[in-house]
Amino acid sequence: MEPGFIEGIPKAELHLHIEGSLEPELMFALAERNRVDLPYNSVEELRQAYQFTNLQSFLDIYYAGARVLLVEQDFYDLTWAYLTRMQEQNVKHVEIFFDPQTHTERGVAFSTVIEGIDSALKDARREYGISSYLILCFLRHLSEDDAFKTLEEALPFREKIIGVGLDSSEVGHPPEKFQRVFQRASEEGFRRVAHAGEEGPPEYIIGALDLLGVERIDHGVQCEKDPELLRRLAESRMPLTVCPLSNTRLCVFEKMKDHNLKRLLDAGLCVTVNSDDPAYFGGYMNENLNAVQQGLNLSKEDLVELVKNGFRASFLPKTAIESRVQAVDEYASKNP
Ligand code: HPA
Ligand code: ZN
Repeated sequence: MEPGFIEGIPKAELHLHIEGSLEPELMFALAERNRVDLPYNSVEELRQAYQFTNLQSFLDIYYAGARVLLVEQDFYDLTWAYLTRMQEQNVKHVEIFFDPQTHTERGVAFSTVIEGIDSALKDARREYGISSYLILCFLRHLSEDDAFKTLEEALPFREKIIGVGLDSSEVGHPPEKFQRVFQRASEEGFRRVAHAGEEGPPEYIIGALDLLGVERIDHGVQCEKDPELLRRLAESRMPLTVCPLSNTRLCVFEKMKDHNLKRLLDAGLCVTVNSDDPAYFGGYMNENLNAVQQGLNLSKEDLVELVKNGFRASFLPKTAIESRVQAVDEYASKNP
């Protein structure tokens, strides 16, 4: 594979927590601007703390970092910084998660969060030509009541949000806890996705499909433990938004060479590559694609398939998907 192939290919990202794109430098700048105390003396010291052993060890630091986000401009700056990186990485379409409860719990208004993010998305459409959708994630460690309350708060901003998702601590918080919230969200016309099978068992993936009615599974890598589920996911072409650097940093797989992405792809699943929380896990889209290409010795055909799956699994209209997939094919044929 010639250098630059991954960097130049037009891409989509479908699994990105905007709060997880908060780079240490911006965290420190916002802490100073907002007079928030950080328990670290420097950017270097903060980076040193990013040594995770599992999902929860990361979430503790991720929620603490989000405390610097207070006013609309903060959410704008965060989102704009991410989109500027995406422009540099030839990412053409993004579907972004946000965690309103992380902020409303601290007294930040839902409107502050969404207006800041949405203005940056609008500016990036105009200035960078990046298309985007926003997905509201419920925090699964909080109650069903809290999720219902958050859904209510979202309704006045209905047209800015394409769908709902489910994130945070997985084990012990199975999909059935949110079945009624997802039912209600569906009645309101929201698309549905959920994190499932990141650390949790294959049953959580089955629950997300059958009880929550999701159209994509976020992560989903534990599906391999259940051969029948694996077949079902392949036959239905149910997309998995896989996040390779996240999985190795959170010790879901020890090394990239142990990752099952290539096996899942070969088994016929609609696998996509994404960054999850790039500021914490060591890379954005291109770094993730390079890491799996090298770790799993992927061919150019594998990479092109992964990137096309990113557009196919998106919530873009069918005609837009077709033209984006065609653009990937054209790029691949010009860069053989
Ligand atoms: N898993 C669950 N919740 C999250 C993640 C993740 O990888 N990133 C941010 N919130
Ligand atoms: Zn995630």
